[in-house]
Amino acid sequence: MNHLIRRATSATVLRRPLQPLLRHTLMTLPAFSLEGKTCVVTGAGRGLGKEFLTAFAKSGARGACIDIALKNSQSSIKHITEHVQSTTSHTPELRAYACDVASEKQVQDTWESIVSDFGQVDVLVTAAGIVENFEAEKYPFDRWKKMLDVNLNGSFLFAKEAGKYWLDHGLKGNLILVSSMSSMVCVRPQKQAAYNASKAAVSLMGRSLATEWGSKGIRVNSLCPGYMKTDLIIDLLEHEGNHIEANWVKDIPMGRLAHPSELQGTIVWMASDASSYLNGSDIVSFLCPL
Ligand SMILES: NC(=O)c1ccc[n+]([C@@H]2O[C@H](COP(=O)([O-])OP(=O)(O)OC[C@H]3O[C@@H](n4cnc5c(N)ncnc54)[C@H](O)[C@@H]3O)[C@@H](O)[C@H]2O)c1
Repeated sequence: MNHLIRRATSATVLRRPLQPLLRHTLMTLPAFSLEGKTCVVTGAGRGLGKEFLTAFAKSGARGACIDIALKNSQSSIKHITEHVQSTTSHTPELRAYACDVASEKQVQDTWESIVSDFGQVDVLVTAAGIVENFEAEKYPFDRWKKMLDVNLNGSFLFAKEAGKYWLDHGLKGNLILVSSMSSMVCVRPQKQAAYNASKAAVSLMGRSLATEWGSKGIRVNSLCPGYMKTDLIIDLLEHEGNHIEANWVKDIPMGRLAHPSELQGTIVWMASDASSYLNGSDIVSFLCPL
């Protein structure tokens, strides 16, 4: 009997045409698709926010691009649209918005416009952020407050609008806060107490919101990138001196900084139903002092 089964199996294998195995198709779990979802990304005029919106558009989502100036959002959308059209046969539906994330009124008005333009919002990513370095004992207080205003308050104001909207409409929304490995570790040699404090607060705010809203099906998670070579990091290196990149690399187990596009897969996973049981988590890029 075993002998017969073995013969039947090997005959089946021999008869199977080779062509389907060699066909190149883009296959993955359907749960990773963002088709039918609307994703809102703050700080999407450049850097990581732009990468995230690109990844969402390539995964079938519609998207709102928010940045401090409308021209940033518009040029980002133009670039993303051209890229998506050239790599897929698809033209994404993307809209540009100008909003200072630290202004409560602007955030409220922008959220209202986005809901009215798209009809529904499923995912919010708060990527707008700034970085500045001062020695703590000389930190100008107005700059300290600015850091918390943009990185922490800006994330909270958008999270609040999204949470209220999802709760009011009984929607299972998905909030992704862009925090940093600096929420958990003090990077060196740059001195950035305010930035580190702002990101630690963002991550704990994320777990707090996940706790408050989880029972309603609203998921909240933080993405904590390591060093990504965006304009923010390129500007920082120019300001601090390019030699510090070599110091950073010593603490990175992979021995290199990341290209911003390397987070595209992670953000799509976090935004999609593929991560349906991920809640209250920090997805962290590992650094040795961690
Ligand atoms: N690049 C990295 O290595 C890295 C690592 C960890 C975390 N992060 C975080 O990722 C996020 C994005 O960083 P990035 O490297 O893409 O920076 P970036 O400077 O390239 O992009 C940030 C974007 O946010 C916008 N922005 C700044 N202030 C704003 C405001 N008040 N209102 C609206 N938009 C505003 C900017 O105009 C810009 O387009 C930040 O929160 C940053 O802290 C970056």
